[in-house]
Amino acid sequence: MQHIKNQSLLSFMATAPESAVAVSNPATGEIVGHAPISDESALMGSIERAHVAQKEWAKLPAKTRSNILHRWFELLLENKEDLARIMTLEQGKPLAEAQGEVLYGASFIEWFAEEAKRSYGDTVPGPTADKRVVTIKQPIGVACAITPWNFPIAMITRKAGPALAAGCSFVVKPSDSTPLSAFATAELAYQAGVPRDVLQVVLGESSRKIGAIFTSHPLIRKLSFTGSTQVGSVLMAQCANDIKRTSMELGGNAPFIVFDDADIDAAVQGALASKFRNAGQTCVCANRFYVHSSVYDEFVSKFDAAVQTLKVGNGVEEGVTIGPVINEAAKQGIQAIIDRAIEQGAQPVTELKILDGLFMQPVVLKNVKHTMDIVQEEIFGPVAPVISFETDEELIEMANDTIYGLASYFYSQNIHRVWKVAEALEYGMVGINEGIISTEVAPFGGVKQSGIGREGAKLGMDEYMDVKYLCFGGM
Ligand code: SIN
Repeated sequence: MQHIKNQSLLSFMATAPESAVAVSNPATGEIVGHAPISDESALMGSIERAHVAQKEWAKLPAKTRSNILHRWFELLLENKEDLARIMTLEQGKPLAEAQGEVLYGASFIEWFAEEAKRSYGDTVPGPTADKRVVTIKQPIGVACAITPWNFPIAMITRKAGPALAAGCSFVVKPSDSTPLSAFATAELAYQAGVPRDVLQVVLGESSRKIGAIFTSHPLIRKLSFTGSTQVGSVLMAQCANDIKRTSMELGGNAPFIVFDDADIDAAVQGALASKFRNAGQTCVCANRFYVHSSVYDEFVSKFDAAVQTLKVGNGVEEGVTIGPVINEAAKQGIQAIIDRAIEQGAQPVTELKILDGLFMQPVVLKNVKHTMDIVQEEIFGPVAPVISFETDEELIEMANDTIYGLASYFYSQNIHRVWKVAEALEYGMVGINEGIISTEVAPFGGVKQSGIGREGAKLGMDEYMDVKYLCFGGM
């Protein structure tokens, strides 16, 4: 791989066994690297080593784990440009956005380096004169994770950070489409002092097989998954067999609402950021826009004008703001959603161009009705359907009319409406006059079929710890 200054990030490629997955660049189709695959017995060995190593890792003082994580954070920053280039080459997002993801990913390691020292228990007034009650928090044990291709670093660090801070060992299976970023990120963890058996990146012969091993192996006590609701529900069912803890960060269908009292220019900027981040391939991307009828035309024309300024292309090129989508199946799926919406009466505001390869022209669709299929589907691509509404009551009903409940957004300047709407939206996260809500300091997660558990924030480590209650009697 060219233009990577710190070649130690790619050391896993030199040691790759016979069996390796070839990783291609979605912008060009070229093979950019290979990542090692473990067979079943190697995977079993990994889990057993993670189990042994966890005991020693958990015994370290929290401050020692914190210092190691802090060093990992620093190394991520020092290697920001190389990591971003690796990411762009395998995932497609523009370099500037990839650099943003490295910082975002690193922020979870910094945050949990700090939180490692703060996993406090409680002292509780005893129920009788002779009893004292105390709670302590302890690491779950071996935690594993399955992470997606859309954020090849941040979705790993958001899970590995709290797991390692808590004293768990952590085995992660990244997406087969973007494993190079995962291995490179782990390499920096080893350089920072994380033992190799405490943090392991593994790929298998098939994702289904690894899922089956992760969910059935008796030494694994926790599975954290980011991906589709469909796969999440299968993994949860498998984890039910021996009552493994799960965290699920699943699909979304985020409404983006513009009220008649909104600052329209601010709403357009928020819409652009929320919808087109990562070419529309995030589970918190605005998926459907509801705009009050009195400002519909103004919003649609300003939004479309802003969308026309986006530059589609290879993410390594200067000025590109939208990279390719991840693969041919994704492109076909998004195109089918657009075609069906147009058949059902939606209209592209500016004529839609069909681009070569995995590139897609971002498009704003007007005259969309809440009853159209596009409103119920997670688009995961650069398509913005805009629906008109009349009353707040009708709006809330439409916004909540989905199986999902991850992110939602609205723009309004009326404080009474802001409170009422924020409370009425059935979502885990609400952006109010803001299109980008992801940050390590806030709890990320959904309600309904968008998932269970929270990542980041002060809640993040609880997902990797058990609470134990100590009852002192005969006092
Ligand atoms: C995701 O799309 O899964 C995560 C997006 C984010 O963290 O902002």
